[in-house]
Amino acid sequence: MMVEPAAPAIVPQHIAIIMDGNGRWARQRGLPRLAGHRAGTENIRRIVTECATVGVRYLTLYAFSTENWSRPSAEVQGLLAILGEFIDRETESLHREGVQLRHLGRLDDLSAPLRTKIHTAVSQTRENVRLTLAVAFNYGGRADIIDAARAIVAAGGGVEALTEQNIAAHLTTRGMPDPDLIVRTSGEWRLSNFLIWQAAYSEYWTTPTFWPDFTPDLLRQAIHAYGHRQRRFGGLTEES
Ligand code: IPE
Ligand code: IPE
Ligand code: MG
Repeated sequence: MMVEPAAPAIVPQHIAIIMDGNGRWARQRGLPRLAGHRAGTENIRRIVTECATVGVRYLTLYAFSTENWSRPSAEVQGLLAILGEFIDRETESLHREGVQLRHLGRLDDLSAPLRTKIHTAVSQTRENVRLTLAVAFNYGGRADIIDAARAIVAAGGGVEALTEQNIAAHLTTRGMPDPDLIVRTSGEWRLSNFLIWQAAYSEYWTTPTFWPDFTPDLLRQAIHAYGHRQRRFGGLTEES
């Protein structure tokens, strides 16, 4: 008899995933890099479902960084197309499952049709509360902080307006809790400009598995590991 593993006792409220390794996954199979990106995108669905099942409230996925524009144009164009296809294919069923979609990052550099698709999906799912799925596309942590500071200054704020609270309220993640757990696939141990402000006290977990092969079971392993971490936020705990 198959026994379902028990749901983890401590579940992070917000998990952020650096979906890395699509290119290596494809190369291992003698496929073009874009085939890896497509396989990676197909994997998103089951991870979203797993998060909703175990009670994660926010899932942020790093899909395209502000530095990824430096890749060959065919790959960049392919990634832009894949985002549009993802929205077309998944929005309706995500909406039915109570998932709210959000976009993190700079919209201005994206084409008007893609911006429209994003706006439509975000507004269609705006009232959903089961899980917020934030897609970081054309996202960079440094750009995020610069844009927040510029918005504050443009609104007439002086030095006194540059507080932690006010900067956080102007970041693209405004209104979301900071990520509790950051997962990176494909074995790298770096943030690559992902949520650098918001990750100040996040826990970190990495696996050698490439993103297209990342499973709900691996996600549970990450969540279990998180459950054994002691978060101190600079203070002291009873054990220390
Ligand atoms: C992650 O996979 C997706 C993006 C960065 C767009 P990569 O494309 O970085 O895959 P690797 O790291 O080359 O294997
Ligand atoms: C980070 O992966 C960005 C995304 C997963 C979207 P990269 O593959 O771009 O990061 P580096 O270049 O290895 O640091
Ligand atoms: Mg990579």
